[in-house]
Amino acid sequence: MQNLKTVILHNREIAPGYYRMAILAPGYPQTAKAGQFVMLRVQLQAQPLLRRPFGIFKTGTLPPECSGMPPREFVELVYKVVGSGTELMATLQRGDQVELLGPLGEGFVATEDENPILVGGGIGLVPLFKLAEDLCRQGRKVRLLMGGRTRDDILGITEFERLGVETYVSTDDGSLGEEGLVTAVLERKLAKYPGAQVYACGPTPMLNAVHAICATHSTPLQVSLEALMACGVGACLGCVVPGKEHREDEPDYLCTCRQGPVFDAELLQWPESGGAA
Ligand SMILES: Cc1cc2nc3c(=O)[nH]c(=O)nc-3n(C[C@H](O)[C@H](O)[C@H](O)COP(=O)(O)OP(=O)(O)OC[C@H]3O[C@@H](n4cnc5c(N)ncnc54)[C@H](O)[C@@H]3O)c2cc1C
Ligand code: FES
Repeated sequence: MQNLKTVILHNREIAPGYYRMAILAPGYPQTAKAGQFVMLRVQLQAQPLLRRPFGIFKTGTLPPECSGMPPREFVELVYKVVGSGTELMATLQRGDQVELLGPLGEGFVATEDENPILVGGGIGLVPLFKLAEDLCRQGRKVRLLMGGRTRDDILGITEFERLGVETYVSTDDGSLGEEGLVTAVLERKLAKYPGAQVYACGPTPMLNAVHAICATHSTPLQVSLEALMACGVGACLGCVVPGKEHREDEPDYLCTCRQGPVFDAELLQWPESGGAA
């Protein structure tokens, strides 16, 4: 983990309300793992914004712009404008300064399964790209179920397909792919590939539904959680979630920023067992 004072390489809108930002980040291509995240602080004059957590979408190296310059390693984020911080981020341009703390947390663990299924809802597709890259590199047949409210929420489909990923799109309004919930597609895929390793990231109701389906099919599941985070390094305990054994009189909390954001679903408490995952 390092705290870098660095600069933006590009920041552009890719769909209404969604932006893609590349940041100069030496060392990230070697160290960042699928499912890890960064805490980004926008440095604006006297009032720097609090840090905000963002999943790592991609890492890579840009060729030098002119001979004699070193190649530039970068990390790329994809974010949705939802409040004051992300509104401010959307105004930033190439060359603007930011502070980048990371890579942070525990990412996905690629298991031996030959037919993994990835499930991403909206902005939850972001951390699945690096995972898909890793799994495709290992020769796995990767199926990605992409869900969103409308077509604008389906991000990066061409890039996933370029990796060799088989994509299945569903939207609530039917504006892209099949009309309905991504979980309906998951049901069908698990009927066809029983026991497949499932990796999921998305809104909490989607994760609850994915967990219920995987539990019914006795299939292993890893989930990436999006808890509210203030520090990102285990200091504030603002991001804790109840663990499997958590009880009122015997608290058992897991720290999302240190022990997650990716967890084996078996370690968490889920609504049907009385918890609030
Ligand atoms: C590990 C992790 C990875 C994330 N990756 C991404 C990503 O790749 N792309 C992306 O767009 N967002 C991601 N998020 C969510 C992102 O951090 C928030 O959207 C961002 O902090 C909002 O800042 P804001 O100042 O614009 O909004 P605020 O004004 O702080 O909040 C606006 C609204 O967004 C909600 N919100 C704020 N933070 C979160 C959060 N962590 N989870 C769910 N809802 C939240 C608030 O409750 C409020 O309703 C991630 C969060 C975590 C914990
Ligand atoms: S965000 Fe502070 S402990 Fe996790």
